[in-house]
Amino acid sequence: MEGSGNLEMSRRGLLFGSAAAVAMTGVPFATPAQATTAQTTASERPAMPDGTPVMSPVMSKVSLTVNGTSHTLQLDTRTTLLDALREHLHLTGTKKGCDHGQCGACTVIVDGRRLNSCLSLAVMHEGDSVTTIEGLGRPDDLHPMQAAFVKHDGYQCGYCTPGQICSAVAVLDEIKAGIPSHVSADLTAAPQLTATELRERMSGNICRCGAYSNIVDAITEVAGRDA
Ligand code: FES
Ligand code: FES
Repeated sequence: MEGSGNLEMSRRGLLFGSAAAVAMTGVPFATPAQATTAQTTASERPAMPDGTPVMSPVMSKVSLTVNGTSHTLQLDTRTTLLDALREHLHLTGTKKGCDHGQCGACTVIVDGRRLNSCLSLAVMHEGDSVTTIEGLGRPDDLHPMQAAFVKHDGYQCGYCTPGQICSAVAVLDEIKAGIPSHVSADLTAAPQLTATELRERMSGNICRCGAYSNIVDAITEVAGRDA
């Protein structure tokens, strides 16, 4: 049927495009030649309905330190840092919201800087040090930012909260380091700890429960304590 033929073409085009995009990041990806050297015979290999062989995933060893503990993982090179944390290390405190870099629920701190772990491949973090919400504090020994979120009711359902807290901790470090934001009036002056600054810097962390005012109160309290 013409329609299904176009669908197959589109799918193949999409697969090729994805492979090209991954190649541009420097992450290894199986070439057709590599795929055909796999140990399975042609009849054993999985194939698309039209007989096109499905390429085997490329596995890679990744060593990283998470919350102070060293880990070496054998991962499909397409694994995001978020999935490595949640599915392989079972650190489910980091949340998957949109999985598209739009909500901030997956925010973790890597070598002192916050990032959306759903947008970053785990293999790009060889040797990096990752801090997740589990590494900031424990129920009986909360990090000051965690305690402030509790005190100020900085959450309702809590789904965005691990990302909010990791982001907030890194935001205060960014301000201390003198890094300006889009609302900093004077890019050469030390950033001020205003609500406007905090709201702008936290704007990548969405809270569908709308706890924003209380989140700002929590961060402001910790910032004042640290100042
Ligand atoms: S899950 Fe990563 S930004 Fe939404
Ligand atoms: S507390 Fe529910 S999404 Fe933020």
